[in-house]
Amino acid sequence: MSNRIDEHPIFGEIKHGKEVTIYLGDQPIPAYEEDTIAAALWAQGIRASRYSPKRCEARGLFCAIGYCSDCLMTVDGVPNTRTCITPVRDGMRVEVQQGNGDWSEYSHE
Ligand code: FES
Repeated sequence: MSNRIDEHPIFGEIKHGKEVTIYLGDQPIPAYEEDTIAAALWAQGIRASRYSPKRCEARGLFCAIGYCSDCLMTVDGVPNTRTCITPVRDGMRVEVQQGNGDWSEYSHE
């Protein structure tokens, strides 16, 4: 897979787990089962995870530890999922999030 570290100067050869596929919209994205969603997308050169509500500016990985919320995406229909700390699952569907995300599916009114 592209953009991956396979040999590290300190840790040596990086052994990856089982290959899985997630989907960005309809686009298949190869991943390893130990990847977070953000890591799998970065490995494929995909940087934008969401667009800000007011200025529609692209956002992506910033803290990478689940603190800032710049990596929010809609994952399997659930908006505002922190992709930097969410592991991939085979067949998972992720979408670039627009603004604050669509919570209408979760409304009880
Ligand atoms: S990049 Fe900051 S929460 Fe994910």
